[in-house]
Amino acid sequence: MRSNFVAASDDEAEHGGWDEAKKRRPTDAELQEMCRLIHEAMDAGACGWSAQVLGMNSIQRDYDGTPMITDMLSEHEILTFAKVLADRDEGFIELAYQQTGEEGRPLAPEARQFFEKVAAVAKRPVLYQAVTPNSVHPEQHRERIRWLESCAERGLRVYGQGATRRGGFEMTFEDWNLFDDTEAWREVTLGTKDQRKAKMQDPEMRRHLKEEWDAGIRPTQVAQGSVGSLVVQTKNVKIDIGAESTFPTLPAPVEIGSASYFLIKTRDGYRLLSRVCPHQGGTVQDRATRFVCPNHGYQYDKDGGKCLNAEGLRMKSYVVNVKEGRLIALVPDEKAGNASRFGQTVQQIADAEGKHVVDALLDMVIEDDLATEFFAPTQGREAAQFTTEVLDSNLVVAGVSDGGAHVKFLTAGIYPTDLLIWLVRDEKTLSLEDAHYKLSYLPAHLGGFKDRGALREHAPADIVVYDLEKLEILPSEVAEDLPGGEWRRIQKSRGYNWILVNGEVTFEDGQPTGALPGKFLRNGRG
Ligand code: FES
Repeated sequence: MRSNFVAASDDEAEHGGWDEAKKRRPTDAELQEMCRLIHEAMDAGACGWSAQVLGMNSIQRDYDGTPMITDMLSEHEILTFAKVLADRDEGFIELAYQQTGEEGRPLAPEARQFFEKVAAVAKRPVLYQAVTPNSVHPEQHRERIRWLESCAERGLRVYGQGATRRGGFEMTFEDWNLFDDTEAWREVTLGTKDQRKAKMQDPEMRRHLKEEWDAGIRPTQVAQGSVGSLVVQTKNVKIDIGAESTFPTLPAPVEIGSASYFLIKTRDGYRLLSRVCPHQGGTVQDRATRFVCPNHGYQYDKDGGKCLNAEGLRMKSYVVNVKEGRLIALVPDEKAGNASRFGQTVQQIADAEGKHVVDALLDMVIEDDLATEFFAPTQGREAAQFTTEVLDSNLVVAGVSDGGAHVKFLTAGIYPTDLLIWLVRDEKTLSLEDAHYKLSYLPAHLGGFKDRGALREHAPADIVVYDLEKLEILPSEVAEDLPGGEWRRIQKSRGYNWILVNGEVTFEDGQPTGALPGKFLRNGRG
């Protein structure tokens, strides 16, 4: 299934130029021209339009710290764009609209009423961003679900995008840009690496950050435990381990500093597997068809290091990329200044060192040239009960992939596999049928994809065949495959046997077959 949204920012920038679009609101004539562009895009196949409208206090801003173009959309402009869909009687809208409120951030009545207005004008589905399960303030998501239900009772087609994925962000302060919800943190996380470092060392900026912190003003929108809950992770470095031709037989032992690895080649490419046994730290040996730890006899497969004796154990795996015939591994830096802090939260480090949490964090990242990796857990999403409550509503789709955004911090595209593993297989709080409804049929229905999203005789369908018991999400890794030598984080999965598109197998056991039978869907029409 392929389709397109019209991104409202493209539309505005197209009409007046990027900077101009941020400085003033469009004239009536310009607004009409933007509506014409939405029509043109939808004629060409777009299935609606989407926008983030978070106002001047947007918590995820443009590259220069100013709000995004769409953050500044007025209600009149949004309703004018909504009318385009009513005139066509097709398409749908996806909207993130500013929320305000007291503790637990309840959906403010004004925002709620505005969503209803948009749905009434568009007469088409509106996807509300987002229904986030909240284990600290569960009344928050319950209230939103009740509101969606009341919309449905009144004939308003407002649906919720559920934030149903477990996990969090992996980040360094060299790239991190999602602390835009406080003025001081926004400033510190803007600019080049050197500029950021200079700001982090500036006593005046430190004072500002600490004042904000002590006044309870903290970046919590995407990292709900804020700075103190960041967990220090391993810092990785690139090591050239030799020419590909020097490893004719695999697995091959590889030594880097004091660490020992096995070089293996899997269907996903080369990997280094740490020989430190994940059970209790023994040294894993290479034995015929298996890796074996002599300490307690645990065995690991040679295609990725999965433990064959104990559920959930896996040899630590590191990416190895091939560059001009050389094997370049990305492995933990033994010389990292922060190695002794791995696994601790910033708050724990601050307590141990008797420092303000802001100083503890910034001293640490500066010492490590901003390369320290952190994990920012997403609070409240680990509890199956609350995510199930969200998915129990027939008005909520599973999500959020975030469209693949934030590539250096997030691998949110794992949400379908995570949902099947977590709630269907392991917790058994969601039926397989309900999961497929939320992952496939409901989103297809909202998107206007007619006759798609469910398996029915004579209906077109792309089919995914998987073994629920064997589904597995692999650890996140860095892929250097973006244009301009840029990198992103990715997470692969296992357990998907076949993917069929238009009757042809396009992936078999995770490997592409080379078949490209997909067709572009235009407004749900093939
Ligand atoms: S330490 Fe390796 S099996 Fe126990």
